[in-house]
Amino acid sequence: MERLDKVLANMGVGTRKEVKQLIKKGEVSVRGMVAQRADLKIDPEADELWVGGKKIVYKKHIYLMLNKPEGVISATFDPRHRTVCDLVPEEFAHFKPFPVGRLDIDTRGLLILTNDGKLAHELLSPKKHVPKTYFAKLDKEICKEDIDAFEKGIVLDDGYKTLPARLEEGEGGVYVTIYEGKFHQVKRMFNQVGKNVTYLKRIKMGNLTLDPALSKGEVRELTKEELDCLWTL
Ligand code: URA
Repeated sequence: MERLDKVLANMGVGTRKEVKQLIKKGEVSVRGMVAQRADLKIDPEADELWVGGKKIVYKKHIYLMLNKPEGVISATFDPRHRTVCDLVPEEFAHFKPFPVGRLDIDTRGLLILTNDGKLAHELLSPKKHVPKTYFAKLDKEICKEDIDAFEKGIVLDDGYKTLPARLEEGEGGVYVTIYEGKFHQVKRMFNQVGKNVTYLKRIKMGNLTLDPALSKGEVRELTKEELDCLWTL
């Protein structure tokens, strides 16, 4: 059971103070009765809530897709740079979503944000080997040996040998799929075969593909189908 004012504030109805005012004015009803107190204990999953003639559809978790632009940091707060959370519109921000994993400041593309720690854990667990596909531009052409080397696993500068990765030629760049998420992994893998990454964009995570209609910096909620495909990895 939770306090009525807290639930309504979490659903984005207003600040705690605004919600209290609405309750005082008799604008809020719970299970068909006008609520008298802000501290009324309710079951948000079961109790029907109305505010000013509008039904409040309760949800606990939010799942967002962001097309991350370069220049923003994958964190909830940073003293110097804009973060991915700064790009989340107010209608979703009150759920306090956080990024699932990290993309470098100069990496673009698919980033999931959620307030569901369980999904984040599933996607980031090193045991799960969730595939992540990137489109990269390099300063040199790749060759057959590079594809084979990625397929075998690359020994990084710190001695760690990556899991086998898939490298393919694409139009104007290459596609690379990795099954783990070491620090700067894609850039470091290419460095080991003598190439520099000049552009990096994540286009897929698990079965979820970046929506090509989502412009840079744009955020939208995942559809039910997209969410289902993330849970069933
Ligand atoms: N690999 C990198 O080098 N950078 C990223 O942002 C993601 C994967």
